[in-house]
Amino acid sequence: MSIRIQEKDRLFSLETENTMYQMKADELNVLLHVWYGQKTCADMSYLIRMSDRGFCGNPWESQNRREYSLDTLPQEYSSAGVGDYRSPALCAELENGSRSTDWRYAGYRLLKGKTRPSGLPGLRGSAETEGLEICLEDKTSGLKAYLTYWVFEALDVIVRSTRIENRGEAAVTLRKAASVCIDFPYGKKEVIHFHGRHAMERVMERNPVPRGGQLTFESRRGMSSHQSNPFVILCDPDTTERQGEAWGCMLMYSGNHLEEISCCQTASVRLVSGIHPECFSWPLNPGESFHTPEAILSYSAEGLNALSRNYHRVIRDEVIPPRWRGVRKPVLVNSWEACYFDFNAEKLLKLAVAAKELGMEMLVLDDGWFGERNDDTTSLGDWFCNEKKLGCGLKELSERIHALGLYFGLWLEPEMISARSDLYRNHPDWALTDPDRKPMVGRNQLVLDMSRQEVQDYLFDAISRILKDARIEYIKWDFNRCVANVWSHALPAGRQGETAHRFIMGTYALLERLEEAFPDVMIEGCSGGGGRFDAGMLYYCPQIWCSDDTDAVERLEIQRGTSFGYPACAMGSHVSACPNHQTGRIVPFATRGMVAMSGTFGYELNPEKLSAEEKETVKQQIAAFHRFEGLIAEGDYYRLDDAGGDETAWLFVSPDQKEALLTVVVTHVRAYSPFPLVRLQGLDPDGTYRREDTGETVTGAALMYGGISFPPFMGDYPAAQVYLTQVDEN
Ligand code: DGJ
Repeated sequence: MSIRIQEKDRLFSLETENTMYQMKADELNVLLHVWYGQKTCADMSYLIRMSDRGFCGNPWESQNRREYSLDTLPQEYSSAGVGDYRSPALCAELENGSRSTDWRYAGYRLLKGKTRPSGLPGLRGSAETEGLEICLEDKTSGLKAYLTYWVFEALDVIVRSTRIENRGEAAVTLRKAASVCIDFPYGKKEVIHFHGRHAMERVMERNPVPRGGQLTFESRRGMSSHQSNPFVILCDPDTTERQGEAWGCMLMYSGNHLEEISCCQTASVRLVSGIHPECFSWPLNPGESFHTPEAILSYSAEGLNALSRNYHRVIRDEVIPPRWRGVRKPVLVNSWEACYFDFNAEKLLKLAVAAKELGMEMLVLDDGWFGERNDDTTSLGDWFCNEKKLGCGLKELSERIHALGLYFGLWLEPEMISARSDLYRNHPDWALTDPDRKPMVGRNQLVLDMSRQEVQDYLFDAISRILKDARIEYIKWDFNRCVANVWSHALPAGRQGETAHRFIMGTYALLERLEEAFPDVMIEGCSGGGGRFDAGMLYYCPQIWCSDDTDAVERLEIQRGTSFGYPACAMGSHVSACPNHQTGRIVPFATRGMVAMSGTFGYELNPEKLSAEEKETVKQQIAAFHRFEGLIAEGDYYRLDDAGGDETAWLFVSPDQKEALLTVVVTHVRAYSPFPLVRLQGLDPDGTYRREDTGETVTGAALMYGGISFPPFMGDYPAAQVYLTQVDEN
């Protein structure tokens, strides 16, 4: 039983295999957050102490009990305007202009059978998944907040979301509706977040949560963004990859988001996460409700690596489409860095022949095949094959590619529209544009109003037509600018605050329809690389192009940062040509292969242009990838570079601990350096492992506590891959 309720104490415990989440309705019907952490099986509310603190007001019903204050007690869904001066979970503007809400416990309901927030992705679960719904009410306005918790016991994951219902008699406007609020009452905390920019996504950074202050991470860009991933980790100052406590909060959402982490006067830390309130308002008439996105919570007492593995498991098992779970993906070659906009069918076919000879399995035709598109100034929205440019239609091209023994994939950027397009000429109001204002352009393009049903229908028909006509196994779904001028021509002035959220729900609805209609077409997410790398998109796209920076050395940091929350099987990564197109750096071909195969693996180059030696290397890389792809996609992942230094190292270990694959890349070779030493993790300490490269055998304990020592590396960006298998000693 994952949910225990002690009725007498009104104590609610959600238990997973190793964690416990607890809350309690107190004597004033305030729902207190009691605990999230190690599974203790105890009533942890003894830790909540009260004392009179100056300038911390008391609710009227406390009868001036000066030690009882909403400002200091740990809250499960914080009220607004009634004495808790920390960040509120919700802000609702009532008909009379008041923005106060005072949440009090009003009952609970046990749930069975996972459901999703309406119109949004959610963890899949099953008919057996258990959940709890706690109802809070604000008596004055008639608003109810239904806090929903789903327990994924074996995964050490709890999923939270909130549904706000207006049971009052007057309309209200939601100005903020967070998915989650948690107060961590004890101890100093640090916060890890993932910032970046285009071509430099998800750089991990760790900071102390400042006393009396607040850190915020956010996107107002209409997308989860390159700049700030909707995932944060709180941890203790002494937490490392290998030990210590860590709490993760990942919003399953691809639009504007805000994470607030504050440390209040009494040193408790509050985390609030949800849709960004600045870009949002939602009128709720009597009887209407609004459901927030889900937040995926996990806790580990064994360091950051263990927390990451919880997220990897939950994304693999409960987020990505089941159709693609554990499925072997073709090694692809993408036309973008090979040709950019300069191609025709003959050129693509020559590229395909060369790719096939080296063992590649799918040709993806990137941007430039439609409308009049020969550069990025035109034609988005006109999803008709440019037969003049290609020399044939998509049907013929796809058949010729298939005849060579390759699958065929196609690039699309459905949510965008070029001002120079037939679509825009015919439907200028389908673009998001402010009235009386020139719109912002990004990469010469405008953004379609995905909140409109007719726009979704147009795209569904256009994409369906292509998928029915040609033989296409894969779509690369791009999104190449931030959203601005968020004004829908289909909504009245008073409802424009809904547009940004309706936009992302429109995208989700379109993806869902396409997936239902074409279940065998795999969609890879992309947004100028990894600008929308989030659990919301992963619900529809089993993999996402990680970054437009294909430089293997840059990718070390990008893929490392991504690995904190997302599994390798979701990270689109390719070997590209050198000098690298983004940085001009030259990295050995072998190193490029090892870095790219720690994700979905493919090539972003013209195989015809490779030297004979490089072609041989490609064949070996593809063979190696096929040998290890199960281990990479399904294995347990460990970051091993916590000792610092010039090496970046990571490890995949099979769930049965029988095999492991270690990769080490040296980013700065120095003269007379100490022998690089990498200590492994996750092996069977009593098992004996054979190193395939040297034939040596050594125990798992020795590999984990002693490590593998390498001879000094030489040259620029050298790398090594070591495959280990457990052998029977007898
Ligand atoms: C951005 C993507 O990340 C690239 O891989 C490529 O598809 C271009 N867009 C094409 O416009």
